[in-house]
Amino acid sequence: MSSRHETGWDGIYHRNLPKSLPWELGKPREVLMRLVDSGRITPCETLDLCCGVGTNPSYLAEKGFNVTALDVSDGAVKHARDRMRDANVAMNLLVGSFLNLPFKTEKFGFIFDFGCFHHVEIEYRTVFIMDVKRVLKRKGTYFMVCFSSENGPAWNHFRKEQIEQLFKDYFDIKWIRPFSSLEGDNVTRHFYEVLMEKLATTTLSEYKPGA
Ligand SMILES: C[S@@+](CC[C@H](N)C(=O)[O-])C[C@H]1O[C@@H](n2cnc3c(N)ncnc32)[C@H](O)[C@@H]1O
Repeated sequence: MSSRHETGWDGIYHRNLPKSLPWELGKPREVLMRLVDSGRITPCETLDLCCGVGTNPSYLAEKGFNVTALDVSDGAVKHARDRMRDANVAMNLLVGSFLNLPFKTEKFGFIFDFGCFHHVEIEYRTVFIMDVKRVLKRKGTYFMVCFSSENGPAWNHFRKEQIEQLFKDYFDIKWIRPFSSLEGDNVTRHFYEVLMEKLATTTLSEYKPGA
């Protein structure tokens, strides 16, 4: 399996400096800092999916989280390694795809995803969601941020009801909140932040006869 973006991302990271990437604000995302400051998530085994140049996972590592960070781009992971050294923190950095996560079942207590799920091709969404659930511990937390339909119609701009529909069989959705952010290219983009807890039960849609 491969993502339509896999080949392009590395080119982007190799051609551009981190500070010129629209999604790279040079500081951790407010939504993440707010969640950590709230005490709702505390240091634990953590995965940053699609970690980019490592700003968010470095912040989590500084806060005492035991962080693994994964991105498909070797260029992004190189930048993340530099960021990790500058911040004087340790992280497990991996080049790899969000499809078929290379982690054992129930490894993580917390998964952070800023702008990862919305890059998963439509036909792989359920596979992705089930794999995220698989690698989360019992009652583990998945904090996902994706583009909202406020940005205009596109295959990966989501309505709130669509997010509910996609995740409700796998996660207990605690909240779906809209927010807007002035991004690095000076464009205001609209997002949903979604806080979810892994459901203990296996639902009908996950049930595979004979598996
Ligand atoms: C919009 S950027 C977000 C980066 C980072 N989360 C942040 O907030 O700065 C999307 C990231 O997804 C990564 N990505 C795209 N397809 C991927 C895949 N199949 N597996 C893992 N990472 C992927 C890209 O390389 C890129 O770093």
